Amino acid sequence: MLIEKSKVIEVLKGVIYFAKGDNIIDLGMLDELEISGRQIKFRLVFPRLGEPAVNIVSNAAEKALKEVFGPETQVEITPITEKEKGRGPLAGVKHIIAVASGKGGVGKSTVAANLAVALSRSGAKVGLVDADIYGPSVPIMFGIVDEGPGMVEKEGKQMIVPIEKFGIRLLSIGFFVDTDKPLIWRGPMATSALNQLLKDADWGVLDYLIIDLPPGTGDIQLTLAQSYSITGAVVVTTPQKVAFADVRRAATMFRQDKLTIPLLGLIENMAYFTPSDMPGKKYFIFGKGHGEGFANALGIPLIGQIPIVEQISESGDSGSPIALDEDSPVAKAFLEVALRVKSLIHN
Ligand SMILES: Nc1ncnc2c1ncn2[C@@H]1O[C@H](COP(=O)(O)OP(=O)(O)OP(=O)(O)O)[C@@H](O)[C@H]1O
Ligand SMILES: [Mg+2]
Repeated sequence: MLIEKSKVIEVLKGVIYFAKGDNIIDLGMLDELEISGRQIKFRLVFPRLGEPAVNIVSNAAEKALKEVFGPETQVEITPITEKEKGRGPLAGVKHIIAVASGKGGVGKSTVAANLAVALSRSGAKVGLVDADIYGPSVPIMFGIVDEGPGMVEKEGKQMIVPIEKFGIRLLSIGFFVDTDKPLIWRGPMATSALNQLLKDADWGVLDYLIIDLPPGTGDIQLTLAQSYSITGAVVVTTPQKVAFADVRRAATMFRQDKLTIPLLGLIENMAYFTPSDMPGKKYFIFGKGHGEGFANALGIPLIGQIPIVEQISESGDSGSPIALDEDSPVAKAFLEVALRVKSLIHN
């Protein structure tokens, strides 16, 4: 039987990529299909490589083609990533870092915002996405509550323009989802809003895109893991003993087969108390060494320890993250965290 392109495409329509719940043709994964004689050659574009789905889908495609065109047919499939394909607005984003926690209120947004500032101060181009549907806080922390992102047309497509503040490109899910609506309404809107923030925004060239995730484990985390190539997650915790159960849950979730976002390490927030008039003092009011113990138990590095200081809350509310204040010891702590994150990514 003569091998025709249209027939190959028809056969490949029967191959499902389960992570996205559709066939590989309709998902736009087929690329550079070439046919010569009895040889079929093409590339398949995946969100990322190195996960079981890549082989499963590639094998299924090969099997389906051989069944139709005969076992002697040569099928050559090269899996590539969306990034290699140079596809989409995230093509210029070198690393996506997710900031996660098992439970709310541990300082995830504080860490995400200040990590973004510290990375930026270390010379990197940085973006920050607030994906916390339960309480977006990036607009407050950066003093852009009354602003809205603009739109620009690129290649015939309307793109969202991130708001730039302190040299950081910012977008919040709060700009797109009505946070006055009950959660049951917000939930389903959240994943599509997240996709918009990532796929329909003009991020340009960035070294790091930080994502402030909602606490716990839900649809947002799942969407992120399955549809994007995340460099790694940073888990934030506090030193209280009870917090460990939450950290373990978060870590376990990121290690599930269907998720597998690499864990870069743990950040212990509110690790000790430093009074503002005694910047050299450290009071370990929740006990010492918990963060290190948690990190060891999970087999991940302790990236850093952030003290409890009053100014963090004040600076958070004033729209100017504390890491911008060069004289503050907390800014130094965040700068160290930023450098450690960099070295964990690049080694
Ligand atoms: N190291 C710190 N020292 C003092 N206050 C802090 C510190 N870290 C966070 N806070 C304060 O604790 C509160 C919770 O922090 P944050 O909003 O960053 O937590 P979160 O984990 O993002 O919470 P949520 O689950 O509500 O999103 C805020 O008022 C913040 O200013
Ligand atoms: Mg938060």
